[in-house]
Amino acid sequence: MLNIIITLLLLQIIGSLQGQMLPKEIKKCHFGESQCIVHSMNLLIKKFPRGIPALGMKPIDVVDIKNSKFWNDEKVGAFWLDFDLFNQVNYGFENTTITKVSGFDENPTSSLIEIHGRIPSLIHKGSYYSQGRVWIVELNSTGESFSDFQNFRFVLKLKVIMEYRNNKRYLKIYELNPFVNMDRWVFWLDNFFESNTDMTIAINQVFNLHWVEFWNELEPTNLKIFASVFRDIFEDIFKKVSYDDMFLPVSKDSEVND
Ligand SMILES: *[C@@H]1O[C@H](CO)[C@@H](O)[C@H](O)[C@H]1NC(C)=O
Ligand SMILES: *[C@@H]1O[C@H](CO)[C@@H](O)[C@H](O)[C@H]1NC(C)=O
Repeated sequence: MLNIIITLLLLQIIGSLQGQMLPKEIKKCHFGESQCIVHSMNLLIKKFPRGIPALGMKPIDVVDIKNSKFWNDEKVGAFWLDFDLFNQVNYGFENTTITKVSGFDENPTSSLIEIHGRIPSLIHKGSYYSQGRVWIVELNSTGESFSDFQNFRFVLKLKVIMEYRNNKRYLKIYELNPFVNMDRWVFWLDNFFESNTDMTIAINQVFNLHWVEFWNELEPTNLKIFASVFRDIFEDIFKKVSYDDMFLPVSKDSEVND
């Protein structure tokens, strides 16, 4: 779920690469000018948390997420869990700071594109449905879930290919890999053991004490969901804004000097 969050973020970022329709206060950069690109992305995130539809940028202050399945064990044995999340929303993307980018060169297909960023607090809220067995206890519960990913850091690595339309170059994502990290994952599930509040509190305490192990177990799922959401978002922006329009034109001189 957390990954999904990041996705949104990216969305914003990409937009910040600046198409021709970009607001004037967002400065266009030369290809490969990483500092300038970081600065413009951050300005874009700060000024347009509600997105820019014409650029394919969706809002990032409140981000809806597709339903996702986190555990789907075979229903045998003493411990299994089927855990789904739905009605998911993320808050906090609007506070993203892009810290570093690379690969936004004149020919971005020759290397990886990387986008690094940080979010002070990434909040995820949703409803869950859970069915399972923990020793002799049967689980069948539904309720609200709350997550806070504190000091959330991410790196997105993209491989892109070029498409040509109307004599302009458009990026198409070939591969997108997210990497994430955080100081702490605070997590709460309401009502996990339906008629037993003490056990619900106990399981939440266990979770919060051992969040690293839970994170490690969930990470592959999280990253997969995140990558797909993120990709969707990027594709919109890349489809609408040509790569050349995101940057200042290259002068013939500097081309020769290369
Ligand atoms: C984003 O930052 C603002 C200003 O610091 C803060 O008030 C708000 O709670 C933050 N949003 C989230 C979801 O943490
Ligand atoms: C779980 O609980 C719901 C609502 O109480 C009930 O409709 C459903 O049949 C239960 N499922 C199982 C497998 O016990």
